[in-house]
Parts: sequence; C-alpha cells; structure tokens
Amino acid sequence: MPTLHWIGKDKVINHHMDVPFKVLEHTYGFDNGTQSEEETNSGNKIIHGDNLEALKALLPEYEGKVKCIYIDPPYNTGNEGWVYNDNVNDPKIKKWLGKVVGKESDDLSRHDKWLCMMYPRLKLLHKLLSNEGAIFISIDDNEQANLKIICDEIFGASNFITSVVWQKSKKGDAKLISVTHEYIIVYTKNKNTCIQSGLWRKKKDGADTVLAKYQELKTLHKNDHEVISKEMSKWFNSLEKNAIERSHKHYKFSDDRGLYFPDNFAGPNDGRDSRPRYDIFHPVTGKSCKKPSTGWRWEEGKTIDAILQNPPRIHFGKDETTIPCRKSYLHEIDNEPLMSVFYRDGRAASRLVDEILGKNSFDFPKDPEILQELFGAITKNNDIILDSFAGSGTSAQAILQLNKIEGSNRKFILIELEDYALTKTSKRVNEVIKGFKNTVGTGGSFDYYELGQPMFSENGNLNEIVGIEKIRQYVFYTETKTPFTEAKHNDNKYFLGKHNETGYYLNYEQDLITTLDHAFLATMKTKAEQYVIYADNCLLTKDFMVKHHLIFKKIPRDITRF
Ligand SMILES: C[S@@+](CC[C@H](N)C(=O)[O-])C[C@H]1O[C@@H](n2cnc3c(N)ncnc32)[C@H](O)[C@@H]1O
Repeated sequence: MPTLHWIGKDKVINHHMDVPFKVLEHTYGFDNGTQSEEETNSGNKIIHGDNLEALKALLPEYEGKVKCIYIDPPYNTGNEGWVYNDNVNDPKIKKWLGKVVGKESDDLSRHDKWLCMMYPRLKLLHKLLSNEGAIFISIDDNEQANLKIICDEIFGASNFITSVVWQKSKKGDAKLISVTHEYIIVYTKNKNTCIQSGLWRKKKDGADTVLAKYQELKTLHKNDHEVISKEMSKWFNSLEKNAIERSHKHYKFSDDRGLYFPDNFAGPNDGRDSRPRYDIFHPVTGKSCKKPSTGWRWEEGKTIDAILQNPPRIHFGKDETTIPCRKSYLHEIDNEPLMSVFYRDGRAASRLVDEILGKNSFDFPKDPEILQELFGAITKNNDIILDSFAGSGTSAQAILQLNKIEGSNRKFILIELEDYALTKTSKRVNEVIKGFKNTVGTGGSFDYYELGQPMFSENGNLNEIVGIEKIRQYVFYTETKTPFTEAKHNDNKYFLGKHNETGYYLNYEQDLITTLDHAFLATMKTKAEQYVIYADNCLLTKDFMVKHHLIFKKIPRDITRF
C-alpha cells in the first residue's frame, strides 16, 4: 500500500504514546442554561485545551466507546488572516511542533506541519472509536489527498467508505473552475461490523420532524391553534421548496399544506372539514399534481395529535401527471441509504451562528442539518459523538436537535483549543439548550472542563498535586475499564472497589512508603475471588500470595500508562 512521507513524520508517528496523561478539571456545569459549579454528570462535555492532550485524557473512560467522530480540522488554505482556525501557524500549534519535531520544524512546509499536527491526533481518535464506529472528516482540496493517504494508514484502506461531497453553493466566478463543494471523508473502524449493525440508513424524515415542529410551535404559541396552523403551513411550504431543490427526493410529507393544517384549521375535532383546500405539488417539478376523479380522500375523524404521531406519506410519480397516492405509513417505508452528495447553501450555517452568537462571530461554521443527518443515520440513543475541533459547537447543536426530535439521549464531547471554548462554543450550546430568537430550546445539560495536571511527574512518579481522588479513579479505570464511583463501603480506606469478583486496593500515601504485609491484609474486609493490591513494597511470599489469590502491583511501576 502506498504510504506518505513528509519531514517530521518520524517524530510524530508514535508521539501519541508520549503525550502526558492529564486529568480533566471540572470548572462549570450548565443545566438547562443555568451555570453552577456542580457537575451535571450528563455525559455531555466541552473541554478547553489542545485536543492531543484532551483526547489522551479521554482514553481511560472512552477508549473503544465513541460511536461517531466528526472533525473539521483547519483546512490549511494558507490564509493568514484566518490564523486561529485555518492553518497551522496558530502560535499554540507552532510551539507544540517546535517541541515535538525539534529544530527541523523551522524548515517544514505548511503541508508538513499540517501532517505532523494531524497524524498523532488521528491515532488517538482511532483508539477512541468503537468497533461499530465511524469518523467523518471535513476537508477541502488543500489537504484532501494527503488526508486520505494518512487515513488509509491509520484506519486501514479497507475501512474507507467514501468522500462525501457537500455542495455549498451554486454560483461561482472563478477564472477556470468555480469550486462550490468540499468533502467529508468517511472511515469506519470496521466496515463489516458497521454493515452488520443495520444502521447507516437515512431516517424516515417525516414523523419525528413533523411532530417535533408541531410540539415546538405548540409551546411557543401556547396552544393557539390558529397561529400554530399558519406557522405549520409556512414550514411545510419551506420544506416543499427544499424538496424541489433536492431533486432526488420522491417521498415527501403528506401533510401537504392544508391537509392537516389548512389556513383556517382551528384545532382537532372542531367539526370543520380538514381535507386539503390546496393542490398538492410535485416535489421535483413543483407543479400541481393530477387529482383523482373522486377528489382527495384522507383518513377522517382523527385528532391532530394522532395524525402527527404517525403521519402518512405520499408517493409521487415521476412528475405531476401521475396521481400521487398515499403509499403507506412512515414506519412501513424502508429507510433510505445515505447519499454521497449533499446540497445545502453554505451561508445558512453562518446565518444561524450570527443569529445565536452575533454577527461575524465565527468564520465558516458547518451546517447542523448535515451533521444531524449523518449522526442520525449512524448513531442511536445513548451513543457518544466526539468533535475534537469544535469551533462554534455545530456538532453539539446537531446532537441536541436530534435528541429533541427523537427523544434520544445521544451524548456529545467537544474539544476546543482557543479561549472561545467558553465564550463561543459553550455559549452557543447554552443558547441552543435555552432557546434563541424564535427557536424553542432543546433542553439539556453539559459540563465544562479545563485540562489539568499530568498524572505522572517527569521522573515517572505519581504527581501528588493531582490529588488522591483522581489517582484512585485512574488506577481503578486502568484495571477495570469501568468508571470509578466512590461509594460507602465497609473496608479500609485503600479499597477501590470490586469488579468481576476481584477486589482492588491502592495502598498509597503521599509521604510514606507503603507495604503489602499481613498487617495490611488484616484490614481488608471485602470478600472476593482474588485481590489486586497496589503498594510501594510487598513483604508476602510468592507461595502465600498464590495460595490466597493475591496479586501485588508496585507503585508507580505497574500502573498502566495510556
Ligand atoms: C474549522 S474550525 C471548526 C468549525 C466547526 N466545525 C464549526 O462548525 O464551528 C477548527 C477549530 O479547531 C480548533 N483547533 C485547531 N487546532 C486545535 C487543537 N489542536 N485542539 C483543539 N482545537 C483545535 C480551532 O481553534 C477552530 O476553532
């Protein structure tokens, strides 16, 4: 398989292993928009710091557990005016390169630098990805070819799925060819497992979306059916326009303007005729469809809530000359496969961020609708989605919206290097949770973290400043790969917990040499099939240890390093 070489590669190829493990320091909890110092423990996280260290910090808890990764790294266009999020001349990244690559780093081209920056980060992302997981990487022509080759190396060429094309405008004025698209490169951790998962289907876009919109309007307009009905009609109209633009669509909501929401619709069971008063337009040609001789017939006597719980769909013919029929209910229609080309006007995402954070607050944010479609297709309830180049926090918005629509609890982890992790990334997520302008909040909560102290000092000893709690958590994780919870127990203070019939003890004191001996054993109270005991020294004989199922681990030598 062809591989790519660049100046500095030898210095970064295993660098992810040398990155110090730092603890995450909780700074704020945001619960439904209210900030406090309490941890929300929602599983949603925003981490401020360099993603290389942050990804490493996530390993003990998240290795092999992340279902979906979306990243939008700097495109490296060489645009100096966009220094913080476009190229590798960000002072923090330059400093990091100088440290890792050494003197040679002065001679690196911007492509060498970009590759040096990306390689160890992708290695860690690969470790975090679950066996059914997939990574989506936004990129454009500047680094697409290089990225593809290093991803083949890290994720395996056989796990490459495709380069999705996002067409973000229809106009251009270049002298040669106007580039109106960019890419989202897709790799799985294991293609076969993904195939078996049965996911990777685009959601039946209808029932959930209609219901969510209706509920949103109900809350916003305090059950005023007249207003709700008008707003619903407006919304359907905008959907219709989109459907025409995305001309590959042949299915569409059946609520075609006036079917369930005629302008004078005054609420369910009001005795009025709620059959459509409008023509039904073909989603591709936009022309009024041929009517059946009997006129439109729809199920009657249902309440609006019942209809919205299970809205039927219309199946259109190839153009307006065929009478559309109600194909079936949404749940009877197969989910469609994801398509490799998206069209969505790139300006929509900027307008949205302007609305939430203020004008020109973030350059080139991504579109939450696209991410929502990708996340919706390959993840399900409780899955974890990670974005380690978070920027303005688009991924979190997409996930929160998806949770609201599906009533799911997908979790997000966002990492952002710049100080605007608090003032932009978190702020946007908070606004989405609380609601902004005319958009009702999604609800939700998250925790905000800073990168803290390294777990080990430079001489390899445990770093006392980290604090005994974090050390206990770390050791328990390394042993059991399960989170440590400090619970009340009837044992000595060194007991960490019991897992799979093994009792774990960390006999550690900051200023003392600790010993595993008969006196220590006498203080242990938990009954287990075997015991793993960390201490500085051990005075028990080998035979005794084997006989009583005891395993001694020396501090710090035997503590696993990530
Ligand atoms: C192109 S922007 C991402 C925009 C984002 N997708 C959005 O929709 O707003 C890239 C982001 O990655 C951040 N970044 C760059 N290097 C980073 C690093 N080493 N660790 C964490 N974040 C980094 C930049 O500060 C910038 O905010």
